[in-house]
Amino acid sequence: MHLLDLTPISNNFIGHTRMSLRKLLKKRRKQKVVDQIERLNVFEEEIDGLDKDTRKIINLLNYTKRSTSAYDGGEFDVGYHSFNLKGKRLRGQRDPQQRFSNVPYDFTGKTVLDIGCNQGGMLFEIADRIKHGIGIDYDARMVNVANRIRSNQKATHLDFYVFDLQAERLDYISDLLIDDNVDICFLLSVCMWLKNWKDVIDFTYKSSDSLLFETNGSTEQQDEQVAYLQKCYSKVDLLSASSEDDPKQKKRKLLLCSK
Ligand SMILES: C[S@@+](CC[C@H](N)C(=O)[O-])C[C@H]1O[C@@H](n2cnc3c(N)ncnc32)[C@H](O)[C@@H]1O
Repeated sequence: MHLLDLTPISNNFIGHTRMSLRKLLKKRRKQKVVDQIERLNVFEEEIDGLDKDTRKIINLLNYTKRSTSAYDGGEFDVGYHSFNLKGKRLRGQRDPQQRFSNVPYDFTGKTVLDIGCNQGGMLFEIADRIKHGIGIDYDARMVNVANRIRSNQKATHLDFYVFDLQAERLDYISDLLIDDNVDICFLLSVCMWLKNWKDVIDFTYKSSDSLLFETNGSTEQQDEQVAYLQKCYSKVDLLSASSEDDPKQKKRKLLLCSK
């Protein structure tokens, strides 16, 4: 190999090293935050108006902050989603109640598939209305806490499963559904994390009549997501041009798509 040919390789190598160093530093900073998370006492029946079960759930919600991702809600009380548990408002980065306030869809008696459901907060918010909800996410901590809240709330019509959208064949999601299809899919703030996001949208198109979609990523990424939705669905309504519920990131769009 000619000596000059080495230049791009070494630049590439330095680029990679810088990237890994940045990742390593981020991981360390994160570890510091996580090490500071205090586990609540689960030996007493009631402390400060919180019963033992609720304190256990808060511990598990906080445990999801161990994910080294940008969507773990590490700086908030209980991670990514806000929850109402036993009359207490637990603040997360995203507020499901506020997000649904822009959605003109009647969820009564409907079946819902939430793809990339995180802690399950969007499904718990509409649990009193829907017939059946299925949440899938590849992060086992998220799915564990969603299942723990499901049993606490006796929400036996909600199911949560671990599923990696990039590592597994998407057809298997259909096998997790009780019927062949659902009434509506959610794909909220997930696409920027997926290389195969178009395949996931193709899957939602095949599996339901409607899709509640939230864009994420750079402006170009979000424009590309909307353009693809417009190519697939005959109706794509913009419900909200910003994600006002999130104190950290307001530049996302909420859309309702139908065939
Ligand atoms: C920004 S959060 C959005 C959570 C939720 N959809 C919402 O908007 O409230 C992105 C979610 O996608 C999940 N996710 C990312 N990559 C995934 C993959 N390959 N398979 C399954 N879930 C994935 C993450 O674990 C995370 O819960």
